[in-house]
Amino acid sequence: MSDNDRSSLFQSRSVPENYRRYLHPAVFAPWADRLVEVASLEAGQTVLDVASGTGAVARAAARAVGPEGRVIASDVSPGMLEQLVEEPEAGAAPIETLVSPATELALPAGSVDVVLCQQGLQFVRDKVTAVAEMRRVVRPGGQILVAVWIADERLEPFDSYGESLRREAIDEPFPHAWDSNSFKMSADRLREVFDAAGAGPVEITSDSRDSVWPAPDAAANGILGTPYGLAFAGLDDIARRHARDALVARFTEPDGSPRPLRASVLFARARM
Ligand SMILES: C[S@@+](CC[C@H](N)C(=O)[O-])C[C@H]1O[C@@H](n2cnc3c(N)ncnc32)[C@H](O)[C@@H]1O
Repeated sequence: MSDNDRSSLFQSRSVPENYRRYLHPAVFAPWADRLVEVASLEAGQTVLDVASGTGAVARAAARAVGPEGRVIASDVSPGMLEQLVEEPEAGAAPIETLVSPATELALPAGSVDVVLCQQGLQFVRDKVTAVAEMRRVVRPGGQILVAVWIADERLEPFDSYGESLRREAIDEPFPHAWDSNSFKMSADRLREVFDAAGAGPVEITSDSRDSVWPAPDAAANGILGTPYGLAFAGLDDIARRHARDALVARFTEPDGSPRPLRASVLFARARM
């Protein structure tokens, strides 16, 4: 597992838009509903969503804590947070956005009831400082709940995205791009990080689900919302068509319908 800093990978203009359009609805919003269910949020709570991206978790949390609650969506990328701007939902808490690295949360100590973080921790180089920051901002009696993809297990559609680019024999577009485990974490690594951050003991569970796509094309276009997106867009026309056709074929069932794509997650929960 590499600990490279990947905080810049979601900063370009096109990645956040495509993330919001393709990946948010099919992959991240359904997982966010699951995360919020696992968190058992209560009405009126204050929730911080770290590495919130386009706000899938923040929105699910806002519905769960209701209008008396408070949700703060923080991320290092202003471009990702800009995609979160939508009308507040009736019956949901308002969502505040905070541009802030996970390692330096601009919030007072003990100011939130629950910290949630979905598929963000693996991108932070200094994971121990990030979890120590989560611990600092949670009040006594509160909880931290982090979700990451499971190391050493196939992860769709993301592993297919990396493979489709790699087959075009281009240089690795960013450090560890070809190491799919660098987007995932193991239970041992999570335990090590939480313990070192003084946030242990951590309780770890796992879950799997299929993402369901409107069409194979949409699943293929999802690559544009990932760190691979810029390299994919920069391929010459022939290579791009070749890579895209390979993705569409992989994401299509024999009857032409979109193939459900499996991913597995670890949930790491610490109670303060
Ligand atoms: C795969 S996205 C997950 C977004 C969101 N949690 C979701 O479930 O849709 C990863 C997010 O982590 C953010 N990120 C990466 N490094 C970060 C850091 N050091 N501090 C805060 N956010 C970071 C990225 O900007 C990106 O929005």
